Amino acid sequence: MAALKRLVDRLAAERGLPDADMLALLACGDGDVLSHLFARARAAREAVYGRDVYIRGLIEFTNFCKNDCLYCGIRRSNARACRYRLAEEEILLCAEAGYRMGFRTVVLQGGEDPYFTDERLCRIVRALKAARPDRAVTLSVGERSRESYQKLFDAGADRYLLRHETATKAHYGRLHPPELSFERRMRCLADLKAIGYQVGCGFMVGSPWQTLADIARDLAFIRRFEPEMVGIGPFIPHRDTPLGAFPSGTVDMTCKLLAIIRLLLPNALLPATTALATLDPRGCEKGMLAGANVVMPNLSPPDAREKYALYEGKASAAGETADALSDLKKRMENIGYRVTIARGDHRILPTGKQR
Ligand code: 5AD
Repeated sequence: MAALKRLVDRLAAERGLPDADMLALLACGDGDVLSHLFARARAAREAVYGRDVYIRGLIEFTNFCKNDCLYCGIRRSNARACRYRLAEEEILLCAEAGYRMGFRTVVLQGGEDPYFTDERLCRIVRALKAARPDRAVTLSVGERSRESYQKLFDAGADRYLLRHETATKAHYGRLHPPELSFERRMRCLADLKAIGYQVGCGFMVGSPWQTLADIARDLAFIRRFEPEMVGIGPFIPHRDTPLGAFPSGTVDMTCKLLAIIRLLLPNALLPATTALATLDPRGCEKGMLAGANVVMPNLSPPDAREKYALYEGKASAAGETADALSDLKKRMENIGYRVTIARGDHRILPTGKQR
Protein backbone atom coordinates (compact mmCIF):
# COMPACT_ATOMS: atom_id res chain seq x y z
CA MET A 1 0.00 0.00 0.00
CA ALA A 2 3.02 2.24 0.38
CA ALA A 3 3.14 2.45 -3.41
CA LEU A 4 -0.43 3.74 -3.58
CA LYS A 5 0.26 6.29 -0.86
CA ARG A 6 3.14 7.53 -2.96
CA LEU A 7 0.72 7.86 -5.88
CA VAL A 8 -1.44 10.10 -3.71
CA ASP A 9 1.60 12.23 -2.91
CA ARG A 10 2.44 12.42 -6.58
CA LEU A 11 -1.15 13.39 -7.43
CA ALA A 12 -0.94 16.18 -4.84
CA ALA A 13 2.43 17.42 -6.05
CA GLU A 14 1.79 17.23 -9.79
CA ARG A 15 -1.98 17.83 -9.80
CA GLY A 16 -2.42 14.77 -11.94
CA LEU A 17 -1.39 11.19 -12.54
CA PRO A 18 -0.62 9.07 -15.60
CA ASP A 19 -3.70 7.10 -16.70
CA ALA A 20 -2.58 3.73 -15.37
CA ASP A 21 -1.79 5.20 -11.95
CA MET A 22 -5.12 7.03 -11.80
CA LEU A 23 -6.89 3.76 -12.59
CA ALA A 24 -4.96 2.01 -9.83
CA LEU A 25 -6.00 4.69 -7.36
CA LEU A 26 -9.63 4.52 -8.53
CA ALA A 27 -9.62 0.76 -7.96
CA CYS A 28 -8.07 0.98 -4.50
CA GLY A 29 -10.29 0.41 -1.48
CA ASP A 30 -7.57 0.34 1.16
CA GLY A 31 -8.52 2.33 4.27
CA ASP A 32 -5.02 3.67 4.94
CA VAL A 33 -4.60 4.90 1.38
CA LEU A 34 -7.99 6.58 1.47
CA SER A 35 -7.29 8.30 4.81
CA HIS A 36 -4.06 9.58 3.32
CA LEU A 37 -5.89 10.78 0.19
CA PHE A 38 -8.52 12.61 2.29
CA ALA A 39 -5.87 14.22 4.49
CA ARG A 40 -4.03 15.50 1.41
CA ALA A 41 -7.27 16.79 -0.09
CA ARG A 42 -8.18 18.65 3.13
CA ALA A 43 -4.71 20.19 3.26
CA ALA A 44 -5.07 21.38 -0.36
CA ARG A 45 -8.50 22.84 0.34
CA GLU A 46 -7.37 24.55 3.53
CA ALA A 47 -4.35 26.07 1.80
CA VAL A 48 -6.67 27.91 -0.61
CA TYR A 49 -9.95 28.39 1.26
CA GLY A 50 -9.11 27.74 4.91
CA ARG A 51 -11.84 26.04 6.89
CA ASP A 52 -14.66 28.14 5.45
CA VAL A 53 -17.74 26.43 4.05
CA TYR A 54 -19.56 28.45 1.40
CA ILE A 55 -23.33 28.23 1.14
CA ARG A 56 -25.45 28.63 -1.98
CA GLY A 57 -29.21 29.03 -1.81
CA LEU A 58 -30.78 26.69 -4.33
CA ILE A 59 -34.10 27.65 -5.93
CA GLU A 60 -35.59 24.87 -8.05
CA PHE A 61 -37.86 27.13 -10.02
CA THR A 62 -39.32 24.78 -12.65
CA ASN A 63 -39.50 21.04 -13.15
CA PHE A 64 -40.86 21.27 -16.69
CA CYS A 65 -38.24 19.84 -19.01
CA LYS A 66 -38.16 19.33 -22.74
CA ASN A 67 -35.42 16.74 -22.44
CA ASP A 68 -35.72 13.03 -21.84
CA CYS A 69 -32.51 12.03 -20.06
CA LEU A 70 -32.90 8.38 -19.16
CA TYR A 71 -31.81 8.78 -15.52
CA CYS A 72 -33.77 11.86 -14.55
CA GLY A 73 -37.07 11.94 -12.68
CA ILE A 74 -38.23 15.16 -14.35
CA ARG A 75 -37.64 13.86 -17.90
CA ARG A 76 -40.46 14.82 -20.25
CA SER A 77 -41.71 11.24 -20.61
CA ASN A 78 -42.36 10.88 -16.90
CA ALA A 79 -46.10 11.47 -16.89
CA ARG A 80 -46.16 10.84 -13.13
CA ALA A 81 -44.07 13.93 -12.36
CA CYS A 82 -46.26 16.68 -10.97
CA ARG A 83 -45.14 19.76 -12.90
CA TYR A 84 -44.78 23.25 -11.44
CA ARG A 85 -43.07 26.50 -12.15
CA LEU A 86 -42.55 29.35 -9.71
CA ALA A 87 -43.74 32.81 -10.57
CA GLU A 88 -41.13 35.52 -10.90
CA GLU A 89 -42.27 37.14 -7.65
CA GLU A 90 -41.98 33.81 -5.81
CA ILE A 91 -38.42 33.39 -7.03
CA LEU A 92 -37.52 36.89 -5.88
CA LEU A 93 -39.16 36.32 -2.49
CA CYS A 94 -37.30 33.04 -1.92
CA ALA A 95 -34.04 34.70 -2.85
CA GLU A 96 -34.73 37.65 -0.54
CA ALA A 97 -35.59 35.35 2.36
CA GLY A 98 -32.32 33.54 1.64
CA TYR A 99 -30.35 36.80 1.53
CA ARG A 100 -31.65 37.72 4.97
CA MET A 101 -30.47 34.35 6.26
CA GLY A 102 -26.99 34.98 4.87
CA PHE A 103 -27.08 33.52 1.36
CA ARG A 104 -24.90 35.71 -0.89
CA THR A 105 -25.28 33.32 -3.83
CA VAL A 106 -28.56 32.23 -5.31
CA VAL A 107 -28.61 29.26 -7.68
CA LEU A 108 -31.55 29.18 -10.08
CA GLN A 109 -31.90 25.58 -11.16
CA GLY A 110 -34.56 24.16 -13.41
CA GLY A 111 -35.42 21.75 -16.15
CA GLU A 112 -35.09 22.98 -19.73
CA ASP A 113 -38.40 24.77 -19.67
CA PRO A 114 -39.17 26.74 -22.86
CA TYR A 115 -41.45 29.03 -20.85
CA PHE A 116 -38.30 30.63 -19.47
CA THR A 117 -37.25 32.52 -22.55
CA ASP A 118 -34.19 34.73 -22.55
CA GLU A 119 -36.44 37.68 -21.91
CA ARG A 120 -38.05 36.15 -18.83
CA LEU A 121 -34.83 34.76 -17.39
CA CYS A 122 -32.89 37.97 -18.02
CA ARG A 123 -35.59 39.93 -16.24
CA ILE A 124 -35.28 37.65 -13.21
CA VAL A 125 -31.49 37.88 -13.20
CA ARG A 126 -31.61 41.66 -13.46
CA ALA A 127 -34.16 41.89 -10.65
CA LEU A 128 -32.02 39.66 -8.42
CA LYS A 129 -28.93 41.79 -9.06
CA ALA A 130 -30.82 45.08 -8.66
CA ALA A 131 -32.29 44.01 -5.33
CA ARG A 132 -28.97 42.85 -3.88
CA PRO A 133 -25.94 43.95 -5.88
CA ASP A 134 -23.56 42.02 -3.63
CA ARG A 135 -25.25 38.74 -4.42
CA ALA A 136 -23.85 36.26 -6.95
CA VAL A 137 -26.38 34.72 -9.33
CA THR A 138 -25.69 31.21 -10.56
CA LEU A 139 -27.75 29.67 -13.34
CA SER A 140 -28.31 25.96 -13.87
CA VAL A 141 -30.83 25.79 -16.68
CA GLY A 142 -29.20 23.47 -19.17
CA GLU A 143 -28.23 23.81 -22.79
CA ARG A 144 -28.92 27.12 -24.55
CA SER A 145 -27.44 28.97 -27.49
CA ARG A 146 -24.29 31.00 -27.11
CA GLU A 147 -26.36 34.14 -27.72
CA SER A 148 -28.67 33.19 -24.90
CA TYR A 149 -25.77 32.55 -22.51
CA GLN A 150 -24.33 35.92 -23.50
CA LYS A 151 -27.61 37.74 -22.83
CA LEU A 152 -27.90 36.13 -19.41
CA PHE A 153 -24.31 37.07 -18.61
CA ASP A 154 -24.95 40.63 -19.72
CA ALA A 155 -28.03 40.69 -17.49
CA GLY A 156 -25.70 39.98 -14.57
CA ALA A 157 -25.42 36.20 -14.13
CA ASP A 158 -22.04 35.37 -12.62
CA ARG A 159 -21.80 31.59 -12.70
CA TYR A 160 -23.25 28.67 -14.62
CA LEU A 161 -23.57 25.01 -13.67
CA LEU A 162 -23.83 22.52 -16.50
CA ARG A 163 -22.64 19.04 -15.67
CA HIS A 164 -20.90 17.36 -18.57
CA GLU A 165 -22.50 14.11 -17.25
CA THR A 166 -19.81 11.87 -18.75
CA ALA A 167 -16.71 12.58 -20.82
CA THR A 168 -17.10 9.31 -22.74
CA LYS A 169 -19.12 9.85 -25.91
CA ALA A 170 -20.50 6.30 -26.08
CA HIS A 171 -21.50 6.41 -22.41
CA TYR A 172 -23.18 9.78 -22.99
CA GLY A 173 -25.16 8.14 -25.78
CA ARG A 174 -26.44 5.40 -23.46
CA LEU A 175 -27.63 7.83 -20.78
CA HIS A 176 -29.38 10.23 -23.14
CA PRO A 177 -31.92 10.09 -25.94
CA PRO A 178 -30.60 10.33 -29.52
CA GLU A 179 -31.56 13.99 -29.91
CA LEU A 180 -29.08 15.04 -27.22
CA SER A 181 -25.46 15.14 -28.21
CA PHE A 182 -22.18 14.93 -26.41
CA GLU A 183 -20.70 17.46 -28.82
CA ARG A 184 -23.39 20.00 -28.10
CA ARG A 185 -22.90 19.56 -24.37
CA MET A 186 -19.19 20.21 -24.71
CA ARG A 187 -19.89 23.16 -27.02
CA CYS A 188 -22.15 24.71 -24.36
CA LEU A 189 -19.44 24.36 -21.73
CA ALA A 190 -16.86 25.95 -24.03
CA ASP A 191 -19.27 28.82 -24.82
CA LEU A 192 -19.95 29.48 -21.14
CA LYS A 193 -16.26 29.64 -20.42
CA ALA A 194 -15.49 31.89 -23.38
CA ILE A 195 -18.20 34.32 -22.31
CA GLY A 196 -16.60 34.69 -18.88
CA TYR A 197 -18.86 32.81 -16.51
CA GLN A 198 -17.42 30.96 -13.57
CA VAL A 199 -18.35 27.51 -14.88
CA GLY A 200 -19.22 24.27 -13.15
CA CYS A 201 -19.15 20.87 -14.82
CA GLY A 202 -19.57 17.48 -13.21
CA PHE A 203 -20.97 14.00 -13.40
CA MET A 204 -22.89 11.32 -11.56
CA VAL A 205 -20.89 8.72 -9.67
CA GLY A 206 -21.98 5.16 -10.36
CA SER A 207 -24.29 5.98 -13.23
CA PRO A 208 -25.41 2.93 -15.24
CA TRP A 209 -22.61 1.36 -17.32
CA GLN A 210 -19.97 3.73 -15.91
CA THR A 211 -16.55 2.06 -15.73
CA LEU A 212 -13.39 3.18 -13.93
CA ALA A 213 -11.98 4.05 -17.34
CA ASP A 214 -14.97 6.37 -17.90
CA ILE A 215 -14.30 8.02 -14.55
CA ALA A 216 -10.62 8.43 -15.46
CA ARG A 217 -11.77 10.23 -18.63
CA ASP A 218 -14.06 12.47 -16.55
CA LEU A 219 -11.10 13.38 -14.36
CA ALA A 220 -8.86 14.04 -17.36
CA PHE A 221 -11.56 16.26 -18.85
CA ILE A 222 -11.96 18.19 -15.59
CA ARG A 223 -8.22 18.75 -15.36
CA ARG A 224 -8.09 20.01 -18.94
CA PHE A 225 -11.22 22.15 -18.81
CA GLU A 226 -10.27 23.75 -15.47
CA PRO A 227 -13.79 24.63 -14.34
CA GLU A 228 -14.25 26.91 -11.34
CA MET A 229 -16.79 24.49 -9.84
CA VAL A 230 -17.25 20.73 -10.03
CA GLY A 231 -20.53 19.11 -9.00
CA ILE A 232 -20.48 15.38 -8.45
CA GLY A 233 -22.94 13.18 -6.62
CA PRO A 234 -23.97 9.55 -6.61
CA PHE A 235 -26.45 8.33 -9.19
CA ILE A 236 -29.70 7.48 -7.42
CA PRO A 237 -32.30 5.56 -9.42
CA HIS A 238 -35.77 6.99 -9.93
CA ARG A 239 -38.48 4.35 -10.35
CA ASP A 240 -40.35 6.25 -13.05
CA THR A 241 -37.37 6.31 -15.40
CA PRO A 242 -35.89 3.68 -17.75
CA LEU A 243 -32.86 3.37 -15.45
CA GLY A 244 -34.92 2.89 -12.31
CA ALA A 245 -33.69 -0.66 -11.66
CA PHE A 246 -29.96 0.17 -11.63
CA PRO A 247 -28.16 0.38 -8.28
CA SER A 248 -27.15 3.69 -6.69
CA GLY A 249 -23.63 5.01 -6.78
CA THR A 250 -21.77 4.87 -3.49
CA VAL A 251 -20.84 7.42 -0.86
CA ASP A 252 -17.32 5.99 -0.68
CA MET A 253 -16.63 6.39 -4.39
CA THR A 254 -18.11 9.91 -4.37
CA CYS A 255 -15.84 10.94 -1.48
CA LYS A 256 -12.81 9.39 -3.12
CA LEU A 257 -13.56 11.38 -6.29
CA LEU A 258 -14.12 14.61 -4.37
CA ALA A 259 -10.65 14.17 -2.88
CA ILE A 260 -9.03 13.41 -6.22
CA ILE A 261 -10.74 16.40 -7.86
CA ARG A 262 -9.55 18.64 -5.00
CA LEU A 263 -5.98 17.54 -5.73
CA LEU A 264 -6.38 18.03 -9.50
CA LEU A 265 -7.85 21.52 -9.03
CA PRO A 266 -6.95 22.85 -5.57
CA ASN A 267 -8.83 26.14 -6.21
CA ALA A 268 -12.09 24.52 -7.25
CA LEU A 269 -15.37 25.14 -5.49
CA LEU A 270 -16.60 21.65 -4.69
CA PRO A 271 -20.05 21.06 -3.25
CA ALA A 272 -21.05 18.17 -1.06
CA THR A 273 -24.22 17.58 -3.06
CA THR A 274 -27.79 16.82 -2.03
CA ALA A 275 -27.51 13.40 -3.67
CA LEU A 276 -24.61 12.58 -1.34
CA ALA A 277 -26.63 13.72 1.69
CA THR A 278 -29.56 11.66 0.42
CA LEU A 279 -27.60 8.40 0.55
CA ASP A 280 -25.99 9.09 3.92
CA PRO A 281 -27.19 11.30 6.80
CA ARG A 282 -23.52 12.19 7.33
CA GLY A 283 -22.87 12.62 3.60
CA CYS A 284 -22.29 16.34 3.92
CA GLU A 285 -19.68 15.91 6.67
CA LYS A 286 -18.01 13.07 4.77
CA GLY A 287 -17.83 15.24 1.65
CA MET A 288 -16.20 18.10 3.59
CA LEU A 289 -13.69 15.73 5.14
CA ALA A 290 -12.81 14.57 1.62
CA GLY A 291 -12.09 18.09 0.35
CA ALA A 292 -15.47 19.65 -0.50
CA ASN A 293 -16.03 23.28 0.54
CA VAL A 294 -19.54 24.21 -0.61
CA VAL A 295 -23.06 23.24 0.46
CA MET A 296 -26.23 24.15 -1.40
CA PRO A 297 -29.22 24.28 0.97
CA ASN A 298 -32.65 24.45 -0.59
CA LEU A 299 -34.52 27.78 -0.64
CA SER A 300 -37.42 26.53 -2.75
CA PRO A 301 -40.92 26.52 -1.24
CA PRO A 302 -41.47 23.10 0.44
CA ASP A 303 -44.11 21.87 -2.05
CA ALA A 304 -41.80 22.68 -4.96
CA ARG A 305 -38.90 20.82 -3.33
CA GLU A 306 -40.91 17.67 -3.12
CA LYS A 307 -41.85 17.87 -6.80
CA TYR A 308 -38.32 18.59 -7.97
CA ALA A 309 -37.51 14.90 -7.77
CA LEU A 310 -34.56 14.10 -10.02
CA TYR A 311 -34.15 10.91 -7.98
CA GLU A 312 -35.98 9.20 -5.13
CA GLY A 313 -35.78 10.04 -1.45
CA LYS A 314 -34.14 13.42 -1.98
CA ALA A 315 -32.79 14.78 1.32
CA SER A 316 -34.28 17.87 2.99
CA ALA A 317 -37.58 17.54 1.13
CA ALA A 318 -39.25 19.16 4.13
CA GLY A 319 -38.35 21.60 6.88
CA GLU A 320 -37.59 25.28 7.11
CA THR A 321 -34.45 26.55 5.41
CA ALA A 322 -33.57 28.50 8.56
CA ASP A 323 -33.63 25.31 10.63
CA ALA A 324 -31.64 23.42 8.03
CA LEU A 325 -29.08 26.23 8.04
CA SER A 326 -28.60 26.32 11.80
CA ASP A 327 -28.30 22.53 11.79
CA LEU A 328 -25.71 22.74 9.02
CA LYS A 329 -23.72 25.36 10.95
CA LYS A 330 -23.55 23.08 13.99
CA ARG A 331 -22.60 20.05 11.95
CA MET A 332 -19.80 21.91 10.23
CA GLU A 333 -18.51 23.24 13.57
CA ASN A 334 -18.49 19.69 14.90
CA ILE A 335 -15.97 18.70 12.25
CA GLY A 336 -13.88 21.86 12.58
CA TYR A 337 -15.31 23.90 9.70
CA ARG A 338 -17.22 27.19 9.67
CA VAL A 339 -20.14 28.26 7.49
CA THR A 340 -19.47 31.74 6.13
CA ILE A 341 -21.76 34.20 4.40
CA ALA A 342 -18.95 35.37 2.09
CA ARG A 343 -19.88 35.19 -1.60
CA GLY A 344 -17.20 32.55 -2.02
CA ASP A 345 -15.96 33.23 -5.53
CA HIS A 346 -13.32 31.09 -7.14
CA ARG A 347 -9.95 32.34 -5.98
CA ILE A 348 -8.42 32.77 -9.45
CA LEU A 349 -10.74 34.27 -12.05
CA PRO A 350 -9.93 33.67 -15.73
CA THR A 351 -7.62 36.46 -16.92
CA GLY A 352 -9.28 39.46 -18.49
CA LYS A 353 -12.76 38.40 -17.45
CA GLN A 354 -12.88 39.88 -13.95
CA ARG A 355 -15.71 42.19 -13.13
N1 5AD B 1 -29.39 10.61 -9.63
C1 5AD B 1 -28.42 11.49 -9.34
N2 5AD B 1 -28.25 12.65 -9.98
C2 5AD B 1 -29.12 12.94 -10.96
N3 5AD B 1 -29.20 14.00 -11.78
C3 5AD B 1 -30.26 13.82 -12.60
N4 5AD B 1 -30.86 12.66 -12.33
C4 5AD B 1 -30.17 12.08 -11.31
C5 5AD B 1 -30.28 10.87 -10.61
N5 5AD B 1 -31.24 9.96 -10.90
C6 5AD B 1 -28.19 15.06 -11.80
C7 5AD B 1 -27.62 15.25 -13.21
C8 5AD B 1 -27.98 16.69 -13.54
C9 5AD B 1 -28.17 17.31 -12.17
C10 5AD B 1 -29.02 18.53 -12.13
O1 5AD B 1 -28.76 16.28 -11.42
O2 5AD B 1 -26.19 15.10 -13.19
O3 5AD B 1 -27.00 17.38 -14.27
